[in-house]
Amino acid sequence: MTRVVIKTENMSFAYPDGTPALQNINMEILEGERAAIIGSNGAGKSTLFSHFNGILRPTSGLIKIDGEPASYKKDDLIKIRQKVGMVFQNPDDQLFSPTVEEDVAFGPMNLGLPDEEVEKRVEESLEAVGMMGSERKAPHHLSGGQKKRVAIAGILAMKPDIMVLDEPTTGLDPHGVEQVMDILYDLNLKKNMSIIISSHDVEMVTEFATKIFVLHGGEIIHQGTPEDIFNDPKTIKRAQLKQPTAAALLHRLKTNGMSVGVKLTVEEAYHEILHGMGEDAYHNLLHMVKDQCHHKLLHALGEEKYHQMLHILEEEKKNKSS
Ligand SMILES: Nc1ncnc2c1ncn2[C@@H]1O[C@H](COP(=O)(O)OP(=O)(O)O)[C@@H](O)[C@H]1O
Ligand SMILES: [Mg+2]
Repeated sequence: MTRVVIKTENMSFAYPDGTPALQNINMEILEGERAAIIGSNGAGKSTLFSHFNGILRPTSGLIKIDGEPASYKKDDLIKIRQKVGMVFQNPDDQLFSPTVEEDVAFGPMNLGLPDEEVEKRVEESLEAVGMMGSERKAPHHLSGGQKKRVAIAGILAMKPDIMVLDEPTTGLDPHGVEQVMDILYDLNLKKNMSIIISSHDVEMVTEFATKIFVLHGGEIIHQGTPEDIFNDPKTIKRAQLKQPTAAALLHRLKTNGMSVGVKLTVEEAYHEILHGMGEDAYHNLLHMVKDQCHHKLLHALGEEKYHQMLHILEEEKKNKSS
């Protein structure tokens, strides 16, 4: 059976000033899963993420990491943070060493690993994020996308089982988004790493996530596959989010009588629309053949060929609808 790596049970949290930021959160993340928490600003995403590696402690309820209720003793917290690697939304909160190399080495050095092992991990991590050659650069001289990748490398160097990334693509240009998402796919597919991201970018999340949680006002108001989530426009609206553009377009075409299903990505929508158009064109042709061009076709083809053609069209129609 697939291992549950993170599980929360009726987890609630209020900030010291009394702000109730999370209410009765029940969620399960499985090993190797790509999960996304989606929600608008202030929904509680960052607060929830701070619970995944013990930065914040639930006011009530609990969180289990690998089946063990989180313990907030110093030594236990170190273990949790090794297991659950957290990439903050703003890389400037994470990068503080004078060079990229020192930054990525910081975590493994703190674990007391031998120099050789630290060096190996720095090299491997920078390679995994495509930042070799920047070892001696100052992090604050890098672009937003590069900083993000170095921050990811710093976490990878700790060899976590689970990576948690708070809004990993916010503020990046399309190329930067693609690079970061490619790294996350790679870690998930090649190393079976469980990955949890938060975002309000429904397009990206639709492509990436195998499981989505909709967070609104500190509560999880829906969870399921991307199809489950985005075929429920009411909940999406309540969460102050949007449907992916492809889904909204197909929904509209469907409402206006075109025979299409609602798909979430541009690629799927493209095929759905082509198929829908093909079907419409076919039915138009059939209609025309039977009603309008009857005499012309009979004359041009002769009676036998004309009936053969009608027969083929009918058979095709049957095959398509079966
Ligand atoms: N340090 C804090 N003290 C008090 N309230 C906070 C603090 N940080 C966040 N909040 C409040 O908690 C709620 C959730 O915030 P946050 O987790 O940052 O949401 P998100 O990451 O989804 O934008 C908001 O109402 C926010 O104002
Ligand atoms: Mg946030």
